[in-house]
Amino acid sequence: TKPYIFVTRKCSEQQLKPLYEIADVEMWPEEETPCPRELLLKKAARADALLTMLSDVIDKELIENAKNLKVVANLAVGYDNIDVSFAKSKGVIVCNTPDILTDTTADLTFGLLLATARRMTEAAEYVKENKWKSWGPLLLAGQDVHHKTIGIVGMGKIGQAVAKRATGFNMNILYHNRRRNIEVEKDLGAQHVSFDELLASSDYVVCLTPLTDETRERFNKDAFKKMKKTAIFINASRGAVVNEADLYKALISGEISGAGLDVFLHEPIASDHPLIQLKNVVALPHIGSASSETRHAMMKLCADNIANVLNGNEPKTIVK
Ligand code: GLV
Ligand code: GLV
Repeated sequence: TKPYIFVTRKCSEQQLKPLYEIADVEMWPEEETPCPRELLLKKAARADALLTMLSDVIDKELIENAKNLKVVANLAVGYDNIDVSFAKSKGVIVCNTPDILTDTTADLTFGLLLATARRMTEAAEYVKENKWKSWGPLLLAGQDVHHKTIGIVGMGKIGQAVAKRATGFNMNILYHNRRRNIEVEKDLGAQHVSFDELLASSDYVVCLTPLTDETRERFNKDAFKKMKKTAIFINASRGAVVNEADLYKALISGEISGAGLDVFLHEPIASDHPLIQLKNVVALPHIGSASSETRHAMMKLCADNIANVLNGNEPKTIVK
């Protein structure tokens, strides 16, 4: 009998072709609503492979009951939604989609930085709401990006691609990472500094760390206090690296000047959430890697990873 694969969200069948050739593939048919947990558990219980979204929680309960499961391919570079060590202990391979989304995510991150600094979404709404009466010298004046200091927390591949973009804006580049990255220091002139020094010296603090026990709520009251009053905080990693109540207080008290957020503790965040109400917050619905080219490539990579495992071969991108 053919293996059974459950895909937790509507994906392009064309990108999943390698799966249709070898297995019975079932796909949750909705694009914008997730497969309910109860149903996911039921499907997982008989699945040989799962193609999952970062919004699916792949925990002990699910893995324990998935007796046939051999591989989970997550349509994301991050995998904090998966209990990887438990999966491993059960012989389940976990795959993600690194590299192919690096430039796309860096574009969005830098765009979010520009949009927040130059108040672009606020200005765009101003026009659409018919508020524009006249050109004004300080009308919707934001702050400069060029020649300022960017501080990148988490200098992985995406951080590096953001740093490369920053060189085109003549920015001074600081970074903080567990390990120094000599390559970015040599190639891009980035300087490795302590977390505190980065917070104190950066005009733009850009978070690109994965979510781990170490990075959870790293951006808290103390961190925002150490930032410049003019600083803008950009988060394109995971919402849980931020204490959102502390961020809200820092924004309303003028401890920092703005935030551009692509990710939130609870997604989707509601429009009546206090953070979303603030004019100096630019909020996006977790679209870092969302170009159609990249999302299609991510689907294809997930499909190739699953096909490889089910065919007894090495997956292309495995979470170690
Ligand atoms: C998106 O957040 C990803 O991890 O790919
Ligand atoms: C603005 O458009 C200017 O000409 O300064």
